[in-house]
Amino acid sequence: MTNVMTAPPSTKAEIVDVPFAHRELVERLSPGGRYIDAQSDVDSPWVPFGDNAAIKHLAFDVRQGIFSNILWIKEPGVVGTHLHRGTIMMVCLEGSVKYLEYDWVASPGGLILEVPGESHTLVTDHPQGVKLFGWMQGPIEFYDENANYVDTADVWWFINHYETYCREKGIPLNPKLYV
Ligand SMILES: [Fe+2]
Repeated sequence: MTNVMTAPPSTKAEIVDVPFAHRELVERLSPGGRYIDAQSDVDSPWVPFGDNAAIKHLAFDVRQGIFSNILWIKEPGVVGTHLHRGTIMMVCLEGSVKYLEYDWVASPGGLILEVPGESHTLVTDHPQGVKLFGWMQGPIEFYDENANYVDTADVWWFINHYETYCREKGIPLNPKLYV
């Protein structure tokens, strides 16, 4: 008979020495796990994104084109129509947000998944706007109101956004953000 785990096998608050065969390789080659604080500006500052929004950058992975951040739209507002070339996962942290193209409204705790090839227009009607945590992969193409291509936001754009602000303000770059 095969045992199927129905709950974690130990509830002891104690470190167990796990017999993993490749621990030395992990120690030599892994970039390592880490914690990035998002409640303060100690790990990463809020970087202005237009007049009524800011981005707190949390992670950049140049190998996989992944960038993670919190987008804060501080009052009712819009992020204009953009096209995703990669996969996006976002969690609504505060406030609410919707897309003009879809029939749902995201509220705190809700998961938003976006797939390559979709374009959409982000709107928050909430009096306090919205805070969105995102784990995003692949370029995002931005278009103006006449559907003219303007720019692509990829991992390099997000790194430049973070580093330009830090240089201007004399804030040291945080090596923990580069995974
Ligand atoms: Fe999007």
